Amino acid sequence: VSGLLITNARAVTLAGPPGARRGRAGMNDLGVVPRADILVMGQRIVDVVPVGARSRSRTIPPGVRIIDAEGRVVMPGFVDPHTHALWAGDRLDEWDAKRAGTPYLDILKAGGGIMSTVRAVRAATDAQLAAGLASRLATMLASGTTTVEIKSGYGLSPEHELRMLRLIAAAAREGGQLWPTVIATALLGHALDPDDPTLVERTITDTLPRVTREFPRIAVDAFCEDGAWSLADCVRLFDAARRAGHPIRVHTDQFTTKGMTDWAVEHAAASVDHLEASSRETLARVAASSTVACLLPCTGFHTDGRYADGRAIIDGGGAVAIATNCNPGSSPCSSMPMAIALAVRKNGLSPAEAIVGATRNAAALLGLGDRGGLEPGARADLLILRHENERELAHEFGASPVDAVVLGGRVALG
Ligand code: NIG
Repeated sequence: VSGLLITNARAVTLAGPPGARRGRAGMNDLGVVPRADILVMGQRIVDVVPVGARSRSRTIPPGVRIIDAEGRVVMPGFVDPHTHALWAGDRLDEWDAKRAGTPYLDILKAGGGIMSTVRAVRAATDAQLAAGLASRLATMLASGTTTVEIKSGYGLSPEHELRMLRLIAAAAREGGQLWPTVIATALLGHALDPDDPTLVERTITDTLPRVTREFPRIAVDAFCEDGAWSLADCVRLFDAARRAGHPIRVHTDQFTTKGMTDWAVEHAAASVDHLEASSRETLARVAASSTVACLLPCTGFHTDGRYADGRAIIDGGGAVAIATNCNPGSSPCSSMPMAIALAVRKNGLSPAEAIVGATRNAAALLGLGDRGGLEPGARADLLILRHENERELAHEFGASPVDAVVLGGRVALG
C-alpha cells in the first residue's frame, strides 16, 4: 500500500460527529490543528496529529512519501453538490439577449434556455458529450473539487434522460482516480417540452420506473417554477419517487414561490436548492428541518444579482451547503473557490461557514459519510492550498487557491 505523510500543515479537519453541521456554532467550528502531520495509507486517512506527537521512526512505515506543507492549509477536497455539468452546445446568443434585457424565464418561455440545451444534447453524439464532461471534470479538479454531483435533465424524454444517466454513470466509473468522484442525480422534471404535451405523464409513469430499475435509490430532482414544473406535478413525481425509495431534491424558489420548499421540508427532502425568492417564514422552516439548504451564489452573480439569505438559515439553526450549479445557462462556473467567495459576500456566510458548506455539509447532503473532513478512516481527498490561512479562500477570488490535490490518496495535481 502506498503512503503519504503531509507534515507542517495547518490542518482544517472539520472533525466531529457524522452528518451536516448546523447553526452558527456548528458551522463555524473548523477543527483546526495549527501544525499537523497527516498520514495517508492507500486511499484513506490514517490520522491527523500535532507535529511531534508521534515518533516518526516508529510509526511511519518505510517508503511513505513525505510532503512538507511549510505551514500551508491542508483541508478536505471540495464537494460540489449541485451541477448540470453534462451538456452540449452553448447559450452565448441567449446571453446577448439576456444582457440586452430579456429575463431568464422569458427566454425559457420562448422555447430557449433549458430547451435549447436539450436540443443540443439530443443532437450530440455520446463521444461529444463524454468529451465535454471530461474536460469540465479536469477543470473542476484543478480548482480543488474532488467529488461532484451531476444531474441529468437535458434529455427530458425517457430515452434521453436514461442516456444522460448512463453517460454520467460511465464518468463515475473513472471518478475518484482520473477526476473527481461523480455522483449522479436524476433531474427528471427540469422543463416542459412544447412538442410533447404528454411529457409530465410519461416522466412519472415511464421514465421514473425505468430509472428506479437501472439506478435504484438515485436522488430524484425537479425544477418547480413558472414555465417549468408546477407544484402539483412535482408533488406527483416526488410522491412516486419516494414510494420507489429515491431521496428527493428540488430547485425551488429560484424566481417565484410556489409552496414547494415547505412541501419538500415537510417530506424530509435531502435538499432544497436555490431559495433566492423564499420568504422569511419559509427560510425559518428550512432552518428548523433536517433538509439541507443548498445555495448557488454563482447563479445570482451570472443571472440576475439575487442571492438566498443564507445568514437567516444558519442563524435559525439550519444546515447550509454551497455549490457551483455549473451549467451553460444560469451559472457557467465550475469553481468552488468562486462559490465560496460569493457565498461570503452575497449569502451572508462567514468564511468558516462557506468552507463547511463546500465540504462536510455538501458531502452529507449527497449521503456521503466518508468525506468532507480530515479524519481517521475518511477517504483521502485533500487539498494543499497556496495560503497559510483558510480565510484567504473566501477573501481572494479569481485565481486557483490550490497548490496540490490528493485524490483517493494519490497526488493527482501539484
Ligand atoms: O439551477 N433552474 C433550473 N436549472 C438550472 C439552470 C439550467 C439551465 O439554465 O440550463 C439552475 O439554474
